[in-house]
Amino acid sequence: MLEDTSFAIHPGKEKHAASITYQRIGNVMDYQSADGTYLFHCENGTVGVQFFTTSIVRIVMNPKGLPQYDLSKAVIAAKEDLAISEKRIEDKIVLRTSEVEVEILQMPFHVKIQDNDGNILLNDGDRGIGIKSSGEVITFTTMHPDDHFYGFGEKSGFLDKRGEKYEMWNTDVYAPHNPETDPLYESIPYFMTLRNGRAHGVFFDNTFRTIFDMKSESDYYSFQAEGGQLDYYVMAGPTPKEVLEQYTHLTGRMPLPPKWAIGYHQSRYSYESETEVRQLAKNFVDRDIPVDVIHLDIHYMNGYRVFTFDKEKFPNPKKLIKDLREMGIRIVPIVDPGVKKNSEYPIYQEGVNQDQFCKYIEGDIYFGDVWPGTSAFPDFTDEKVRKWWGDKHAFYTELGIEGIWNDMNEPAVFNETKTMDVSVLHQNDGKPTTHRELHNIYGLMMGKATYEGMKEQLNGKRPFLLTRAGYAGVQRYASVWTGDNRSFWEHLQMSLPMVMNLGLSGVPFTGPDVGGFAHDTNAELLTRWTQVGAFTPYFRNHSAIGTHYQEPWQFGEQYEAIMKKYIQMRYEWMPQLYSLFYQASKTGLPVMRPLLMEYPNDPKTYNINDQFMIGDNVIVAPILAPSVTDRAVYLPAGEWVDLANGDVYEGEKTHLVHAEIEHLPVFVKNGTAIVRGDWTSNMDKTSSQVTIDIFAENIDESYRFTYYDDDGETFAYENGEFVLLDMEVITSHDTVAVKVLTQNGNYVPSYKQLQIRIHGLKDGQTVTINGNTKKQIISLEK
Ligand code: GLC
Repeated sequence: MLEDTSFAIHPGKEKHAASITYQRIGNVMDYQSADGTYLFHCENGTVGVQFFTTSIVRIVMNPKGLPQYDLSKAVIAAKEDLAISEKRIEDKIVLRTSEVEVEILQMPFHVKIQDNDGNILLNDGDRGIGIKSSGEVITFTTMHPDDHFYGFGEKSGFLDKRGEKYEMWNTDVYAPHNPETDPLYESIPYFMTLRNGRAHGVFFDNTFRTIFDMKSESDYYSFQAEGGQLDYYVMAGPTPKEVLEQYTHLTGRMPLPPKWAIGYHQSRYSYESETEVRQLAKNFVDRDIPVDVIHLDIHYMNGYRVFTFDKEKFPNPKKLIKDLREMGIRIVPIVDPGVKKNSEYPIYQEGVNQDQFCKYIEGDIYFGDVWPGTSAFPDFTDEKVRKWWGDKHAFYTELGIEGIWNDMNEPAVFNETKTMDVSVLHQNDGKPTTHRELHNIYGLMMGKATYEGMKEQLNGKRPFLLTRAGYAGVQRYASVWTGDNRSFWEHLQMSLPMVMNLGLSGVPFTGPDVGGFAHDTNAELLTRWTQVGAFTPYFRNHSAIGTHYQEPWQFGEQYEAIMKKYIQMRYEWMPQLYSLFYQASKTGLPVMRPLLMEYPNDPKTYNINDQFMIGDNVIVAPILAPSVTDRAVYLPAGEWVDLANGDVYEGEKTHLVHAEIEHLPVFVKNGTAIVRGDWTSNMDKTSSQVTIDIFAENIDESYRFTYYDDDGETFAYENGEFVLLDMEVITSHDTVAVKVLTQNGNYVPSYKQLQIRIHGLKDGQTVTINGNTKKQIISLEK
């Protein structure tokens, strides 16, 4: 293609940035209110202002008529009944709850939202809400010099998104994911702004192609959509954690995953036969490298037909799955949306006969090329189709499968546009709508169909779903991997801000292909990446067809031993990680966090891309470049203990830290605690002993944390079968006092007690547990 050569920068192609012209919404002619919803009738349209909760305000403008409030695929919360105070001051109408104030200027319509301390969250200044000549909606907001932007779902580049312009349009991108590669597979039209320690969030709930521009102007940012309403929520924070809790109140939180899904996953495009899979599993067991999941990529199927196995290469899947289960390993097969067009293939026959596929308005099925060749695509926007597709998963669950991997669900199609014809008309639960509007939710709805179908069939066991595409709210059904990265150090580096921003976008269970998918990995890269993977929420090693194999033993014993140590470390950290996953399922707070989430008043943390936190007290500072064995580590306020050797570092300083290939720098905040288990065997991954490590060298610290455990695989926790300890550690000159503030739940784990280990205990200091000086054990039996 000419565009791929220097021709792309031919002098005749110079483009001048066209300024955006749009029509303002105009003067307010009159307004009315009912039940916490205000309607402002303006010269060129009507704007609705809704108070969703005391901290969440929703603004809706429909360019085609009155605002519609019930179209969302993402929002699951209902608007609360609230008392709104209303004042008219000259030309202004001021509406407020206990947390936010919305000021509407009438001539012309302007909106300003501030918190109750007078901090401006959104102010449309001289610009504001408008409609472009093409009918597209847009809004501008003033950008403060100290504004930093985060979230936006799955984007390449650095953590802080100020100065970037992003598009939301789920896209299959095989080409290298560069900082400029946009959009990728997920669309989460949400961001959080951090300004001088205070945070607020904006969720633009529009499923059309949307654009967020923090780049083109220095004092305004804007967001716009190719169609639909201007429908956005402003979350008042004021801390980053509260913003995320407010956003996930709207769009939902991740269900608690089964423990096995938090373990190590091994994948390859593809392990092509039963013999190869058995050999692979045996290798892990013989080498004592823990593995919970082996993925089956597209070669397990008969000619890439979903809901089939290739009978020659996989003659007895049921037995394979059973035998692997006995080795402590589960199988997760890939399921793509494309159904092969083949009149002898039962799924295709059913799909056609029962009218389950996406169609044009004239009634013809839409066909696109994917792995199986010409294929039809289930219309997941419709409940009937979701039910059909979900039920079909009995094929897998009856074989003993508890997890599914959804891929190509943007949907990806091998054509110029990379996707389905945007004029396809989806059934959309009785409200027929084009693909142009519903493209970004195709993956989300496939996830819903799959998760709900599996859940119904698994008789009380928790399903696991991995997805490539999604929209805001995807966390309710699936974990997300970041697609086809490459075995480059740059991609290891980029994966950190990517996973942190996904976490800030409400999706806590994510990770990249460890080792890199495309291109050949190498010993050093795979080793360093595995060290990071041991701490990323989702931990899967996956590689592409034709590339160097990258199982942990592929590069000799020296590297195997290091990778084994870190994969085992993942399992040792399982009690801590599982408690954080529990927290994420309750509050939406991510397991892996940028430092700014815990230290929003420390500007040094605002764009740290090469370190991350696990929970609120652990900092991981990996090596992310070849041949490097020393790196700078910024440690925020407090004292930090190097977990490998107990060295204590002062906070609010940058330190040079040494890390040979076998070492991953991990720091725990002094005065806090972590809970870890021991690695036993692949068959039984439950720790026989769980220990609370308390780092007590700091005097006059107090730290509260939550410990959670349950059976790890069923929904029995919903009926009280869990153990939940709310704990406190207080260090003073003469005591380290450990207290269980509350204990809830009826579950007694097999280890029955938590052992306490104190680091840095000083002469003359005694340890008390619940006020008692003798024991160093907390019994979990009641
Ligand atoms: C896509 C997926 C990749 C998978 C491959 C074959 O490229 O992103 O993970 O291995 O398809 O199914």
